[in-house]
Amino acid sequence: MRVRRHVLELEPYTPGKSKEELAREYGVEPEEIVKLGSNENPLGPSPKAVEAAKRELERLHEYPEAVAPPELLDAIREYLADPPYPAGEPVDVSEDHLIVGGDGADEIIDLLVRVTVDPGDAVLTLAPTFSQYGISTRAAGGEVRHAPLDPERDFRPDEDALFEALDGVRVAFLCTPNNPTGNALPERLVRDVIEECPGVVLIDHAYVEFADHDYTPLALEYDNVLVLRTCSKALGLAGARVGYAVADPEIIEHLHRVKPVFSLTRPSAAAAKAALRDREYVRKTVKLVREERDRLLRRINGLPGLRAYPSEANFLFVDVGPAGTDAPTLTEELLKRGVIIRDCSSFEGVDEPRYVRVSVGLPEENDRFLETAREVLESLESS
Ligand SMILES: Cc1ncc(COP(=O)(O)O)c(C=O)c1O
Repeated sequence: MRVRRHVLELEPYTPGKSKEELAREYGVEPEEIVKLGSNENPLGPSPKAVEAAKRELERLHEYPEAVAPPELLDAIREYLADPPYPAGEPVDVSEDHLIVGGDGADEIIDLLVRVTVDPGDAVLTLAPTFSQYGISTRAAGGEVRHAPLDPERDFRPDEDALFEALDGVRVAFLCTPNNPTGNALPERLVRDVIEECPGVVLIDHAYVEFADHDYTPLALEYDNVLVLRTCSKALGLAGARVGYAVADPEIIEHLHRVKPVFSLTRPSAAAAKAALRDREYVRKTVKLVREERDRLLRRINGLPGLRAYPSEANFLFVDVGPAGTDAPTLTEELLKRGVIIRDCSSFEGVDEPRYVRVSVGLPEENDRFLETAREVLESLESS
């Protein structure tokens, strides 16, 4: 088989470990595992979403609706018009402004790259940031330019480098709050990038429900902005794989040209519709995560040698360097003890293996992480 050069050169995405993998590899009992590696909803899915998905199982022999069922588009429009989270900025969008991805927000990232990037074209990403932007771009033969975030300044971008790197890009990926660093980009900077960027600016709002800012209205104000959102985080449906985006109808129309028509399955669409309408569940999730995030930040910073950075998302970025260990070692030692966190060494733009990412879980899960991390740090110090 002849494989394209760009594909041979790709580094595959390294996902967070699943409970099943940990149980298989380390012999830990699945019910004893605490999973704080993939930024999921610690409360699980909304029971209403589970019921809705179950009802659709009777119709698994029928193809789903092409593109997305109108009732799901209505549920997204209602959610956006009256957002049930602290920083929510209401927006009134028409169906023409929306696209729904059946492999989550990842699908929409890939669609945008397929629509805009020819081999040799450049895109801009922050560094470090979510790796999927780079993976889709390289698969298309594109080049990834990095705008470094400065660890000495709480991961604020180097603005000179950022604006220099914007020259000629097809897409600028602005992740805010950013995964894995958790910080937000200021609105002034986002607007300046939109105004300077010769291509599309993708504002990745996967974690917006937990944040103190919401830039969704920019998708209506500018015709070169796509705001990306997901049902995987606050809406508790990472396993259903539903993401959506708001953008100018012309961008949406082009994305639909390359979108896999039936990627959004019946149970997933039904679950997403119910989750978007379960406003109480979103509120409960966000309240829990924001409270526990503050507590976890203080407690991690009380552990010897760990430094957690402030975060607007449902996870914390932690520097383990001062503890005299590295991220792969700490992650591995926690895994052996049944606690899954994310070693960030494989993230796009991480140069040193000194950072881990810890998702905010239930209070008892966070306590288990804190106790286990203390135990590991003590054992590493004495060895
Ligand atoms: C910043 C960011 N964007 C997009 C995604 C992808 O989300 P989805 O599960 O909807 O594909 C993630 C998932 O972790 C993410 O962190």
